Amino acid sequence: MAADSARRRGPVGWWRRRSLRVRLTAVSAAVLALGLALSAYVFVDALSRALVSTIDEGIHQRAREVVALSDAHRLDGPIVTTDNTIVQVVSRDGRIIGATGNTDRLVPLLSAESRAAALTDDGARFLDGRPYGIPGVLRVTVLRADDGVTVIAARSFAEVQGSIGAAAHVMLIGTPLLLVLLAAASWLVIGRTLRPIDALRRGAAEITGTARSRRLPVPEAHDEVHSLAMTLNDMLARLEDAGARQRALVSDAAHELRSPLASIRLQLEVALNHPEGQDWQETAEGVLEDTLRLARLAEDLLALARLDEGRPSRREPVDLNELVSRTADRYGIAADLPAATLTVTGDAMDLGRVLTNLIDNAVRHRTAKVAVALTQAGGPDARMAEITVTDDGPGIPAEDRERVFDRFTRLDAARSRDDGGAGLGLAIVRTTLHAHGGTIHLTDASPGLTAVVRLPLS
Ligand SMILES: Nc1ncnc2c1ncn2[C@@H]1O[C@H](COP(=O)(O)OP(=O)(O)OP(=O)(O)O)[C@@H](O)[C@H]1O
Ligand SMILES: [Mg+2]
Repeated sequence: MAADSARRRGPVGWWRRRSLRVRLTAVSAAVLALGLALSAYVFVDALSRALVSTIDEGIHQRAREVVALSDAHRLDGPIVTTDNTIVQVVSRDGRIIGATGNTDRLVPLLSAESRAAALTDDGARFLDGRPYGIPGVLRVTVLRADDGVTVIAARSFAEVQGSIGAAAHVMLIGTPLLLVLLAAASWLVIGRTLRPIDALRRGAAEITGTARSRRLPVPEAHDEVHSLAMTLNDMLARLEDAGARQRALVSDAAHELRSPLASIRLQLEVALNHPEGQDWQETAEGVLEDTLRLARLAEDLLALARLDEGRPSRREPVDLNELVSRTADRYGIAADLPAATLTVTGDAMDLGRVLTNLIDNAVRHRTAKVAVALTQAGGPDARMAEITVTDDGPGIPAEDRERVFDRFTRLDAARSRDDGGAGLGLAIVRTTLHAHGGTIHLTDASPGLTAVVRLPLS
């Protein structure tokens, strides 16, 4: 699927194959272009509106002044104007009865109909000035005075047109230039932003390539890439730990396998090299004992490997009273059981192995006796079953009571060579109990040791 879409043809495929930097720059440039074009348009539009309304106000003002003069019958002589406003006063019969010096005194700027129309819509309008000998466009307004007189005021629009044109020109050249500058800036900024990611990539390539530097470079800035690098480094550290533990386990296992194998080999070699006076029965017994040790080790390792997957293999109701009394019986111990039947959910075989391993340890280390008890834990843990296995042996010093749960940990290494196991017993116990939602801890029984197991009741 993924390879499929990566190979997609056409513009979409082409776009997706561009680098992130190209795509980000292109998208931001497109958005910028749109924004700049829009603001240039709005600017020119607002500018021209403002300029037009300034002209309109000017001519309107002049027209009102002339209307006032006309109504007061003081329109003798030419109308004087300081700015370039053109004013014509037209009588009811269409004659020009007053005008500024900069206009024709014979032809009104607007015909009678246009004047009437302009009076009704009451605003300024554009007018081509060329028929009246004025170059360019005019802005014209018409006001009514007494006695059917109308006043026409106009001003050339050419100047304003020039300024708007200049502004538009500046925008037309400036906007693309600004766009190019901004696009170049975002190209640089995006490149700089993506640089730490490239550094991460190169770091990762180095790790897989040389297996020497085991950490990714962490950028100085405390940004998202920084936390990504930190998270990835944490992950690498955990993977490294897991790898180291795996290697240690393999080498420990190999080490444990070596001694029974060497013992078997030695016994067989001796027997074969000195067949005279050889007690084959004794040899076979020795070899069998070593073989059993090997078989147990293999079984324990298999059990751990399976438990490492984290869940009990079966989830069925297990009658703890029955399981505890049956297992203790095998060692000739009478277990102390509660009146009520306690049931947990899990794998009866796995839980049986927990009890066997604990009682095995207790029996091996006891001086005189071992006690096994099952109770329902009181207090806030009322939904817990508690199993205790107590012996009166040497116990375990407080500082070692956690360590013994590690794989291949034996405190009395010399002794276990003969009758002990590989040091996997308690590791299997803890892993099994965790998979069942339970716990185990060791406490001092002075003298001796108590192993306390807690399991949630079903
Ligand atoms: N009841 C106990 N009293 C004193 N020491 C103990 C007791 N139980 C365990 N230990 C110590 O803890 C170590 C680890 O126990 P664990 O059951 O994991 O391994 P093991 O008994 O040596 O071997 P395995 O159980 O694999 O046959 C033992 O080697 C022993 O030194
Ligand atoms: Mg053991």
